[in-house]
Amino acid sequence: MAEVTLRRFELSDVDAMMAWASDPQVAAFCRWEPYESREALLAFLRDTALPHPWFRAVCAPGSGEVVGAVSVAPTAERCRGELGYVLARAHWGKGVATSAVRRALRDVFAEVEGLRRVEALVDVDNPASQRVAEKAGLRREGVLRRHYWHKGHARDMVMYSFLASDPLPG
Ligand SMILES: CC(C)(COP(=O)(O)OP(=O)(O)OC[C@H]1O[C@@H](n2cnc3c(N)ncnc32)[C@H](O)[C@@H]1OP(=O)(O)O)[C@@H](O)C(=O)NCCC(=O)NCCS
Repeated sequence: MAEVTLRRFELSDVDAMMAWASDPQVAAFCRWEPYESREALLAFLRDTALPHPWFRAVCAPGSGEVVGAVSVAPTAERCRGELGYVLARAHWGKGVATSAVRRALRDVFAEVEGLRRVEALVDVDNPASQRVAEKAGLRREGVLRRHYWHKGHARDMVMYSFLASDPLPG
């Protein structure tokens, strides 16, 4: 497939974002609960996504339609950022998330000062996300047992990483 493009979010993206943010199936492996109102999502966009150091809209090839998000969040260590990605269900299974993560890995090290490592923590029961991380060139480092408190359960998480010095997949 053609490559996706990434850009900063704008408040006017709220309706496009609602397509995935309100979907319980999308939210299942994410930290947040599905959004029930446009106003709550608008507040998230204004207060969290816009001021975030690296939170990008994923735009479909051709149409430019906003179909998802990819982010690299700061951690306690400045050299390390945590990757997140999410896509509206209508666009699953077409390589869009993989293309977005590859694009993110090409851009983010030049845009975030001091960043050397991007890591992704993926639930052991989320094989689609594990596959995205692998296809995008992240290295599987192992399983962190009961590492993450997720919606009432301590979850085993696969740790993936990509270093600034790693080769980008072709
Ligand atoms: C995970 C997610 C981002 C994948 O997006 P996508 O655009 O469909 O991903 P891609 O098409 O690039 O790749 C998906 C891969 O997973 C595979 N896959 C999908 N479901 C699978 C399953 N149940 N078991 C094994 N592999 C699966 C696909 O076959 C594909 O691999 P392939 O190209 O080798 O065939 C999307 O499903 C999503 O937004 N999920 C909800 C949010 C989420 O889980 N985010 C990640 C949190 S760490």
